[in-house]
Amino acid sequence: MGPSIAILGTGSYAPAKIVSNHDLSRLVDTSDEWITTRTGIRERRIAGQHEPTSELAARAGIAAIVDARLTSADIDLVVLATVTPDMPMPSTACVVQHKLGIPVHAACFDLNAACTGFLYALEVARALLVAGRGRHALVIGAEKFSGFLDWQDRATCVLFGDAAGAVVLGRAVDSRHGLLGCNLGAEGGATDLLCIPGGGSLHPPSAHSVEHRQHYIKMKGREVFKSAVRVMAGAAREILEQHRLTADQITCVIPHQANRRIIETLSKDLEIPLERFVINLDRYGNTSAASIPLALDEARRAGRIHAGDISLLLAFGAGLTYGSALIRW
Ligand code: UT7
Repeated sequence: MGPSIAILGTGSYAPAKIVSNHDLSRLVDTSDEWITTRTGIRERRIAGQHEPTSELAARAGIAAIVDARLTSADIDLVVLATVTPDMPMPSTACVVQHKLGIPVHAACFDLNAACTGFLYALEVARALLVAGRGRHALVIGAEKFSGFLDWQDRATCVLFGDAAGAVVLGRAVDSRHGLLGCNLGAEGGATDLLCIPGGGSLHPPSAHSVEHRQHYIKMKGREVFKSAVRVMAGAAREILEQHRLTADQITCVIPHQANRRIIETLSKDLEIPLERFVINLDRYGNTSAASIPLALDEARRAGRIHAGDISLLLAFGAGLTYGSALIRW
């Protein structure tokens, strides 16, 4: 057992441009009615041409640093969860470090666990701080998904959006508070359910990969839906049991924001009233690794989280990765 690590500040950023379901119905054969009923999504944000993932991440990151009453000089570690980096190399975390003026002694790297990325990043950063690798970590989930969507595929392009969320981690003032625990896992046999097949070493960029639209996200929606409910409900039960907590002690659940129906099913399965779930996918769609830190920041700023509260964070994503985390504020 090392020192207790807590969230000292949160921040988020979403691009200004709002694209409604109605706007999308002019692009592909869909309707506001279909998207709203099947997903709960009403609109999403789309980043501008000169707004890469690093820009969204830097804006969320500085907001979290300010919220923690720190400066960039205090950050010793940057872990950035994303599947939509500025470039395959170097890491987007290094770009963010430079943009924010974070000192050169800081270790900076990207982490890919898809929509579970933020929980993976949170746990990796916590463990590094406990191991004595610095005092403060900036943990970011940021995605510019719009660059990887096939705008001819109605089954995927209506679901995702662009955004970033961030937290600053540091020593908890009171050792009973902070990150209580985190469980992470992966079912690596399910890689074909949700993937961007082209552009890596398996299918390097080529005229063929472009022609076959392999650089865009592909998803078997129905199967992902079923897996999502199963793994998140399992992860929730497991972590509550480990910490000898009951569902009624959880004041706030912050789930990955993919589909309102997934969240409603979870609420029933776990017997936690829907009012205790933070839901903002109606305004942002699925923002992958950004979804949990964005919802967390909004919930804090809306006064939904109070000192002593216990929050449960739940995620799943491509891989198929999944995770859960408990925080006492
Ligand atoms: O972050 C991680 C990842 N992703 C997720 O968590 C997504 C999980 N899956 C889902 O949220 C849902 O499966 C979707 C929202 C993707 C799809 O909803 P569904 O109720 O599972 O629909 P479906 O895929 O079974 O498709 C039903 C029908 C199909 O037409 P037919 O074959 O019944 O004639 C689709 O072609 O809806 C059609 N469809 C659409 N219609 C209008 C698919 N996309 C659209 C669309 N607009 N945008």
